[in-house]
Amino acid sequence: MKKMRSETSPLTKKKKKEGLGWIELIRGWSCVFQEFLFQRVMSSHLQNPLPLPSLNHLTCIVTGSTSGIGRETARQLAEAGAHVVMAVRNTKAAHELIQQWQNEWSGKGLPLNLEAMELDLLSLGSVVGFCNVWNARLSPLHVLINNAGIFAMGEEQKFSKDGYEQHLQVNHLAPSLLSLLLLPSLIRGSSSRIINVNSVMHYVGFVDPNDMNVVSGRRKFTSLVGYSGSKLAQVMFSNVLLKRLPQETHISVVCLSPGIVLTNVARDLPRYVQVQYALIPYFIFSPQEGCRSTLFSATDAQIPEHCEKLKTDDKPICTFISQDCKHTKPSEEAHNIETANRVWEKTMELIGLPLDALERLIEGQEVQCRYGTHQE
Ligand SMILES: NC(=O)c1ccc[n+]([C@@H]2O[C@H](COP(=O)([O-])OP(=O)(O)OC[C@H]3O[C@@H](n4cnc5c(N)ncnc54)[C@H](OP(=O)(O)O)[C@@H]3O)[C@@H](O)[C@H]2O)c1
Repeated sequence: MKKMRSETSPLTKKKKKEGLGWIELIRGWSCVFQEFLFQRVMSSHLQNPLPLPSLNHLTCIVTGSTSGIGRETARQLAEAGAHVVMAVRNTKAAHELIQQWQNEWSGKGLPLNLEAMELDLLSLGSVVGFCNVWNARLSPLHVLINNAGIFAMGEEQKFSKDGYEQHLQVNHLAPSLLSLLLLPSLIRGSSSRIINVNSVMHYVGFVDPNDMNVVSGRRKFTSLVGYSGSKLAQVMFSNVLLKRLPQETHISVVCLSPGIVLTNVARDLPRYVQVQYALIPYFIFSPQEGCRSTLFSATDAQIPEHCEKLKTDDKPICTFISQDCKHTKPSEEAHNIETANRVWEKTMELIGLPLDALERLIEGQEVQCRYGTHQE
């Protein structure tokens, strides 16, 4: 068994880690290239589209469902009978999609049960507002899919109005706040699931809990640093979330890799790279192929049992589903318990919640968030 950093003898003077070591980087990049080159071979046992059971009993929220993986996820969940809430920043686009899908579905069964609600992850106030509206319905929520994400190419470091680096906010902070504030509804729907569409890129990510915005100057910011770090932060936060959720809540927490998928995620890449991207369809998944690990995580009957088992483990590691729908391990750095706990604490501070928010939300208490009051 690998020795974990938290077990390092206190006598060993630890040097503060300021990035991944080169062996970790080589391992991380080989995971990325392996996914790129072999994802189709590795997933050849999967059907496309992934067959789904009847989901008439489920209510699912899917963030970022106007494009790419989220769009395909929302459509397939709805066609399997689920009530799907498209949590999006562009509600007009979502309403147009709903209309289109209803027309295509017409004559095949009952009308699809879809609705659109506004959610802008670049605004933590919008997240609080969304949760207040949703929780006020007092309806059960069975599956929250944190799918929306950005990979904004370029060296320029952009910040949200809340003051956070944009990858960090959209890919990690806002989904974390959403997951926590929706706990009362997830408990109503339990057994329920929080599904985080993560990335193989977290294997090359590094998070300094004291410098999550990458502004200290110790590390040079690039979009790769921002993206991979935000995805690693999400895995670390999920590890702690899974461990802290009491067994009796029956809430599973899953992170997953969709594979390398041809979507709008590359919209900010230079034009010549986008052309090359589109010219290698053999290697790259279509959104229909790329949403299989999300759909698997949202519906596979074994997931809750697997998460229950992980919860009792000493090492708090959430389950990670690979693009070929298999349980795998997140990166070595994601196993760093000490850093994960500090990422949890720092995240709570940045999203403006008290450290005991999770426990209070589970008990049904009102919690003050700096970005708005959470109301039941
Ligand atoms: N494609 C890949 O190869 C790949 C690989 C690994 C992981 N992923 C992950 O998969 C997830 C889905 O990405 P995708 O590939 O499907 O990309 P995509 O086509 O660009 O879709 C991203 C979705 O996120 C939404 N979004 C972006 N910023 C938002 C904000 N501030 N508030 C609310 N929604 C916002 C977008 O909304 P708009 O339509 O309004 O822009 C869009 O619907 C992401 O988390 C991404 O990191 C993708």
